[in-house]
Amino acid sequence: MAVILDGKALAAEIKANLSGRAQTLREKGVTPCLAVVLVGNDSASVIYVRNKKKDCEESGIKSLAFELPEETSQSGLISLINDLNARADVHGILVQMPLPGHINEKEILLAVDPRKDVDAFHPENVGLITQGQPRFAPCTPAGVMALLDKYAIDPKGKECVVVGRSDIVGKPMALLLLHRHATVTIAHSRTPDLAAVCRRADILVSAVGRLGLITGDMVKPGAVVVDVAMNRKPDGKLAGDVVFAEAEPKASYITPVPGGVGPMTRAILMQNTITAAEWAQTQMKG
Ligand code: GUN
Repeated sequence: MAVILDGKALAAEIKANLSGRAQTLREKGVTPCLAVVLVGNDSASVIYVRNKKKDCEESGIKSLAFELPEETSQSGLISLINDLNARADVHGILVQMPLPGHINEKEILLAVDPRKDVDAFHPENVGLITQGQPRFAPCTPAGVMALLDKYAIDPKGKECVVVGRSDIVGKPMALLLLHRHATVTIAHSRTPDLAAVCRRADILVSAVGRLGLITGDMVKPGAVVVDVAMNRKPDGKLAGDVVFAEAEPKASYITPVPGGVGPMTRAILMQNTITAAEWAQTQMKG
């Protein structure tokens, strides 16, 4: 029987703390504000954006939604980002991914002012994370670290296996674990014998997006299992990469899906927005 890593509860705690910081900012004349940009109407993205709006309300952050049509041009999107970069009342800018196929995502990420890049996707912010001096925390990996810390799980000296090598999760997740002195392996679709690699893990993080990828035989007895994925099951319900019913009896700690990493990602996004607003407030003074 594993202990459930309750991301929903910790995220609520973090957001409650953030609303205190938001209140302090308001008293100093600054209303923390996140601009969320959605292009098109990808059904998952529409839900994510709706959730972020709710998170903002719970954290004392004002949210501005920019919902643009699917056929929005590259230059139209860049010009909106430039406007948001220039607005003193906007502290964080989030462009919901994925963007429609005709948009060059890399160019969009470069257009966001790195001081408002609360996703930490801009190359300058990625570089700072790599060097262990982040300006903004990478939301999902930092959410995982906060959850491990909450349950006093120290990665130091542990064998950690991260399955998935995306820019958003796999790569920064490996870096944060490395900075906390773990021995880190990144496994991916070309890794031979994924099961054997996963079985080495004291801490196993899966961030692939494939239902049923991590079966019980891939979990070392006593391992900490963190499931970052959010897949839609045929019945419409959400599930991660991990076959929970098989992994849970072997694990010492495990995240549920939903209610594990997802709410943590969004809480860290809120935290980054408050941090950005606090910098803006400090600059106002000077
Ligand atoms: N799409 C899926 N996850 C994310 C995220 O964390 N940030 C943004 N901007 N888009 C996403």
